[in-house]
Amino acid sequence: MDKIRKAVIPVAGLGTRFLPATKAQPKEMLPLVDKPVIQHVVEEAIHAGIENIVLVTGRGKQAIENHFDVAYELEETLDRRGRTEDLRLVQEITHLGQFSYVRQGEPLGLGHAVLCARHAVGEMPFALLLGDDVFDEADPALGALIAAYEATGKSVVGVQEVPESHVSRYGIVNPAASGSATWWDVTRIVEKPAPAVAPSRWAVVGRYVLLPEVFAHLAILKPGVGGEYQLTDALMEMAAEGRLVAAPIPARRFDTGDKLDYLKANVEFALKREDLRAPFQAYLEGLVKKF
Ligand code: G1P
Repeated sequence: MDKIRKAVIPVAGLGTRFLPATKAQPKEMLPLVDKPVIQHVVEEAIHAGIENIVLVTGRGKQAIENHFDVAYELEETLDRRGRTEDLRLVQEITHLGQFSYVRQGEPLGLGHAVLCARHAVGEMPFALLLGDDVFDEADPALGALIAAYEATGKSVVGVQEVPESHVSRYGIVNPAASGSATWWDVTRIVEKPAPAVAPSRWAVVGRYVLLPEVFAHLAILKPGVGGEYQLTDALMEMAAEGRLVAAPIPARRFDTGDKLDYLKANVEFALKREDLRAPFQAYLEGLVKKF
């Protein structure tokens, strides 16, 4: 069985949920404490053993490329000033993995974004990570999907249960009927269903392991929900062929494209930091008394 060596991360989206912050900067560069969201996602892939990161990018996203590239003037200045720790922090980003970029010329949907990466991926299974979803670093989400891929040899969607009022924001799969404790067979997957017709509350949460057969399905897709080329529609064809499983992700998830979840992520990530925990906790306790 082929090892998962490549990850595709689409970053071409406009980030309209986070205006005005995203008017002139990519949403993926918004920080959680002091590290951009996109770096958290790349690090999750690297920790899962992936070496090559393919970013599907678009207009106005140069800040992301610059973030993972050498920053010569900055590095030279930090070096000259003896700021060794900052220099290490900046340089290690460049060496996280091998980065490559493909452009999605038009925002035609997630299915189209993934198809743009076809030649960069080749005939190999790959991970797909959506940048809005960030998981607790202590418990890497992608690991659960890779284990399910290794157990079944099939494509995998990472799922979590969401409240009924949220099912219309996600791709929703059928509940477990056959499989094991860590994966089940997907027979149905529906993009953003109304709660009344949703097959379950199990939502696809931005993590996938996909076999290259997905590209053949994507190449002949017709526009789906919202007039976009939906990855979910290609996955439904694979489910019908018995080629798709779902793996529940145990890790805590934050939807950083949602303002409240973004704030929660910042608070929780700050509380995990050695250098910030004590003073930040004291500040929060003071706040609770005040309000
Ligand atoms: C996309 C997918 C959807 C999935 C979601 C996870 O939707 O189309 O199936 O559940 O990501 O975040 P989007 O959030 O891009 O509208």
